[in-house]
Amino acid sequence: MKFFLDTANIDEIKELIPTGFVDGITTNPSLIAKQGGKMEKIIEEICNLVKGPVSAEVTATDFETMLKEGKYLASIAKNIAVKVPLTENGLKTCVALREKNIMVNVTLCFSAAQAILAAKAGATFISPFIGRLDDIGEDGMNLVGDIVKIYNNYSEFNTQVLVASVRSVEHVTKAAKIGAHFSTLPAKIFKELYKHELTDKGLKSFLDDWEKTGQKILPENN
Ligand code: E4P
Repeated sequence: MKFFLDTANIDEIKELIPTGFVDGITTNPSLIAKQGGKMEKIIEEICNLVKGPVSAEVTATDFETMLKEGKYLASIAKNIAVKVPLTENGLKTCVALREKNIMVNVTLCFSAAQAILAAKAGATFISPFIGRLDDIGEDGMNLVGDIVKIYNNYSEFNTQVLVASVRSVEHVTKAAKIGAHFSTLPAKIFKELYKHELTDKGLKSFLDDWEKTGQKILPENN
């Protein structure tokens, strides 16, 4: 499973790139607004930091302007994935951008039927928003399972499942068990992936015992 960071915060990205586990970035208009500053500049800076796909979202809702925005965003850097909402115009834009070989992330997916349309439109990524489904009393993970199953039924569907609106480590592991290709994570959840209380406890006891020996692994002059 590949991990994207779900953020427009440059400091967070710079902090987590050295882990070696950041395979790309997803942004959305709310994340850009939260960050503050000009979108184009933020996206350009992110693309200079990250080699993998960087999702940048269109904000128009009509086809012509969406397409213009999509082409403009794609011109910022080679690794841009243009994010379009799962609307009729969004999917028309997806088809047109894919014809130009531009990566497209179809976002705001809340049903298996929507995911089928995105695959038929040739989307590079489909983003089911699982946390927001959980918020309304549904189980977002069921949608991930449905999409993975459906996509596996059709060899002509090449769209990758990018689990979004992730709120917990459990979301990540369950999505991985189902076989989703990607998860996009807020930095907070990303950092939680490392953690287990028994790891901390075990390490402490190993180091306490080691200290009692008075030894050092490295020779003095190292
Ligand atoms: C994904 O691409 C979206 O930016 C994001 O995951 C939305 O998450 P939220 O529901 O926590 O806002």
